[in-house]
Amino acid sequence: MEEWEKNNDIIVEDLYNKGWCVLDHYIPEDFRKELLQEQKELLMHGQFRLAGIGSGDTFAIKPEIRSDKVLWMDENLLTPLQEVYWDKMNGLRSAINRRCYLGLKSYEAHFAMYPQGSFYLRHLDRFQTVSYRIVSVVLYLNDSWEESDGGALRMYFTRPDGIEEYEDFLPLGGRLVAFLSGEIPHEVLPTNKERISITGWMKDRD
Ligand code: OGA
Ligand code: MN
Repeated sequence: MEEWEKNNDIIVEDLYNKGWCVLDHYIPEDFRKELLQEQKELLMHGQFRLAGIGSGDTFAIKPEIRSDKVLWMDENLLTPLQEVYWDKMNGLRSAINRRCYLGLKSYEAHFAMYPQGSFYLRHLDRFQTVSYRIVSVVLYLNDSWEESDGGALRMYFTRPDGIEEYEDFLPLGGRLVAFLSGEIPHEVLPTNKERISITGWMKDRD
């Protein structure tokens, strides 16, 4: 079995059993480096924009809530490398559907860059205007990351006795985080250096 099919099995089992998963080395190092290089080139050409909150009529830029910069991926304008990423995500989507019956039909994703000092306050990825988001998937591309660099993803969990706990995960290159968009509140703690990732959502409609 291919390495990443095994990875998909791990992610799917975790999603099924607890609603979230953190998996290291989801992609090989050479692939991560190439993706990072491409994203850095896109960043230099200045197509990234401050990310917003909400969508449609409720869309607003609120840097006091989130201060990352994003560039949406266009499924029809992918480089060969990005095509590989997209195919992997669709493979994962099929694997999730086979096990979890979530009826995931399509995928949307953006490149993200958190500049030094930026963050994203606690939120859910699924809310009224984006109710079609079912599974969130974040792939980190950073070359190196230390605890002191900040920028951890903090996920909140409610224990069976109702008490809330959280766990922090550093944005280590090659690490993939997947979780149910409507069930896991999370935030990005302030980062002390540039933090690069691709974030996507599996949707229950086209
Ligand atoms: C998001 C998000 C988490 C991360 O873009 O909605 O929560 O670790 N990202 O980048
Ligand atoms: Mn989020």
